[in-house]
Amino acid sequence: MASTASHKLIVFVSGRGSNAQAIHHFFKDSDIAEISLLVTNKADAGAYDWAITHGIPATCINRSDFNSPAFIESIKNENPALIVLAGFLWKLPEAFVAAFPKEIINIHPALLPAYGGKGMWGHHVHEAVLACGDLESGITIHRVNEEYDKGSVLLQARCNVLPEDDSDALAARVLKLEHYFYPRLIEFLLAQ
Ligand code: GRF
Repeated sequence: MASTASHKLIVFVSGRGSNAQAIHHFFKDSDIAEISLLVTNKADAGAYDWAITHGIPATCINRSDFNSPAFIESIKNENPALIVLAGFLWKLPEAFVAAFPKEIINIHPALLPAYGGKGMWGHHVHEAVLACGDLESGITIHRVNEEYDKGSVLLQARCNVLPEDDSDALAARVLKLEHYFYPRLIEFLLAQ
């Protein structure tokens, strides 16, 4: 069936893809946007199987293709309204970021600038928050520039850190914020 969605989202994922699924679910009955392509660097990523099962075009890239001008061209040819990073663990090449100065956004499972930068992903983030005894954590959605987790902040949302939390419990609470706010912020950005 031909697409009727007016905005294309290209989603980059390295893992299970629960945010990609939340975004897909949010837009699937609307004509606002659709995931037109899912890009992964891992053929065994849960997100890749999920995309194929749901009829979403998906591609697995290797490092040399990822760094090539041809990859930038292929993404440009898709004409995405937004390039959505959702748990994508490779740093984007500078040329890629330069080619899409306003289109790339990322979600981080903490309140940046705290707990950001290289090595701060997944359970590492939540363990660091717990080790510091913080009473709050949350999410940051930001534009992507050439430095890890340093692009301008678009949205932050907070949740409590509870005394009995381990990193899984905290991750689960933060993930609820991610699934709620990422699709809604995307909708807001597309309406600008
Ligand atoms: C999320 O916690 C996100 O904040 C971070 O990577 C994780 C991806 O989870 N950047 P999922 O693959 O969307 O479930």
